[in-house]
Amino acid sequence: MNFDYTEEQLMIQQTAREFAETEIAPTVLERDKEAKFPAEIVQKMGELGFMGMMVSPEYDGAGMDTVSYCLAMIEISKVDAAVGVIMSVNNSLVCFGLEKYGSDYIKEKYLKPLARGEKLGAFALSEPEAGSDATQQKTTAVKEGDYWVLNGIKNWITNGQSADYHIVMAQTDPEQRHKGITAFIVEKGWIGFEHGVKEDKLGIKSSDTCSLTFANVKVPEENVLWEVGKGFNFAMNTLNGGRYGIASQAVGISEASLDAALSYSKERKAFGTEIYNLQAIQFKLSEMAVKQEAAKLLTLQAAALKDQGKPYIKEASMAKLYSSKVAVENALDAIQVHGGYGYVREYHVERFLRDAKITEIYEGTSEIQKLIIARELIK
Ligand code: CAA
Repeated sequence: MNFDYTEEQLMIQQTAREFAETEIAPTVLERDKEAKFPAEIVQKMGELGFMGMMVSPEYDGAGMDTVSYCLAMIEISKVDAAVGVIMSVNNSLVCFGLEKYGSDYIKEKYLKPLARGEKLGAFALSEPEAGSDATQQKTTAVKEGDYWVLNGIKNWITNGQSADYHIVMAQTDPEQRHKGITAFIVEKGWIGFEHGVKEDKLGIKSSDTCSLTFANVKVPEENVLWEVGKGFNFAMNTLNGGRYGIASQAVGISEASLDAALSYSKERKAFGTEIYNLQAIQFKLSEMAVKQEAAKLLTLQAAALKDQGKPYIKEASMAKLYSSKVAVENALDAIQVHGGYGYVREYHVERFLRDAKITEIYEGTSEIQKLIIARELIK
């Protein structure tokens, strides 16, 4: 067993860390307060190759391994988890799925600009009445000549307003349950396709989550992803890949919480000493550090398994389940260490808690992760 990173992995980690500190950190509080989408930052991340990290150079990606992607996600999310999710969706849910299941036409037309970071992607599975129970798709697609005509509503779509290309799951044969679901690529601006207002969320405020509506949207046949009737399997397989991305986002948040608590405890004095010297604080910091390390190891293990071509579904779900729990717990503990200061924006830790909560919900709730793990255990 080898726990050393390669030189390339270390270089990517360092590049992401420096980028996050110089380009993301200065505006994070303002963007969180104003819920302002980080368009300029996303553009620069594209130029650095962070938006198509695992895509092969043949399709204009950076050709990195999954471990490198997770290390970069951790560094970015440590500074701003809202930027982290924008990056994660484009990489794991959009580019990964298009490279694995897209036709040559789709790869040329859609994957390449997404991997170069010139265009942004979104993944539209959830609906008002189909969240965890994702087979219950109400959005329909009916074949009319060379086109499919889409009607319906999608909910909670990350990058919903800013994305140029959306992967949309729709029911093409309602009799067939999940085997009647198909995935399509829909472009921003197509007639009948509209996005809703930005949701006013608890956390990751600068990412633009919104609903999407489809009213007789004509989608050409060549925009069917993989095959008709394979859309649910496409979504499930792609989400397996997305989950180590969200696990990495959670690891970034919990690492930021630990760092903040540690550094505050070295400065703050109480009872005649820096609070770091008090056992009550030491116990908290130690527990935070152990959980943080375990979450990171689980996450990188899932990534390494994928890089080795081994099964990783169970491990990716375990990583997401545990890392998201630790992100919430470490953020809460960081607030406690800060006392009253932890309750105000300036000290960042209250944002860590607000941002952490969603990692237990999106890309499959914690309850869904337990379901997936149990199903894998009994296989
Ligand atoms: N990996 C691969 N395939 C899977 C799978 C997995 N983890 N889980 C289920 N499948 C496949 C099954 O093999 C089956 O396929 P076949 O018929 O071809 O064998 C098919 O999916 C249906 O399986 P089930 O009959 O078992 O379906 P179910 O309804 O009992 O359970 C579920 C399915 C696992 C609960 C699924 O609905 C699920 O994952 N729900 C959560 C959805 C989710 O994660 N949503 C996140 C939204 S996207 C998002 O958040 C993005 C964002 O913007 C940040």
